[in-house]
Amino acid sequence: MDHWITIESSIIPGTKVELMLLKCHDDFAIRIDGVPGDLMNSRMHHSEDELAKFGCNRVSSIKHARVLVGGLGMGFTLAAVLKIVGVSAKVTVAELVPAVLEWNRGPLGQCAGRPIEDKRTQIHLGDVADLLKRKSVMPQEDQFDAILLDVDNGPEAMTHSDNEWLYSPTGLTNLYEKLRPKGIVAIWSASANPIFTKKLKKASFNVQERTVRARPGKGSRHTIFVAQKD
Ligand SMILES: C[S@@+](CC[C@H](N)C(=O)[O-])C[C@H]1O[C@@H](n2cnc3c(N)ncnc32)[C@H](O)[C@@H]1O
Repeated sequence: MDHWITIESSIIPGTKVELMLLKCHDDFAIRIDGVPGDLMNSRMHHSEDELAKFGCNRVSSIKHARVLVGGLGMGFTLAAVLKIVGVSAKVTVAELVPAVLEWNRGPLGQCAGRPIEDKRTQIHLGDVADLLKRKSVMPQEDQFDAILLDVDNGPEAMTHSDNEWLYSPTGLTNLYEKLRPKGIVAIWSASANPIFTKKLKKASFNVQERTVRARPGKGSRHTIFVAQKD
């Protein structure tokens, strides 16, 4: 029988809630204290890899492509992006919890092949929303070809109540403005959410909902919202 042991924990900034790193044999899980289920588990990352594929399908041919990934988790989505983009790309990964970055620098890093060490990776330690709210004198320099969001279990705040902003009309408008023409926002979700699809359309995106399995060809069905700018 599997016996998961908590090996590290850290308070999520701005909350009193703990994020925990657990281990069982060679596998890891990240959990939020008091919330049932895992935020991420190293045994299942097919849908996190697919998030990168759906978000970056047009990015491989773009020189100096810019991609934003929020958050780091176990690094599977970041690693999948790095396999797709070219050598001149810059991939910014935003992670809210400093301990998650430390865990990735330690034993957790082996799960996805240490993508934070890739020279195309830039780390933003903080809220991904900070980057989306940032106003720039040269807006084109602050825009992305793809933005991939996997910070909660879907378009509802779970890790931090402030994440609600990301899925609000204002958050979606900011996401739209942070994209280059034809840019794509891809958002991971444990389930379909027709109300959120409508909100994306209202924010001017062309939207497709993709169903993906937790493991190749099997396991739970998750949804990836693929929202493209004109
Ligand atoms: C489900 S995990 C991401 C899993 C990741 N896709 C992977 O492949 O391993 C969610 C991560 O997002 C982080 N996070 C939550 N809210 C965030 C925010 N507002 N900004 C940046 N990171 C955030 C969490 O600390 C956690 O590391």
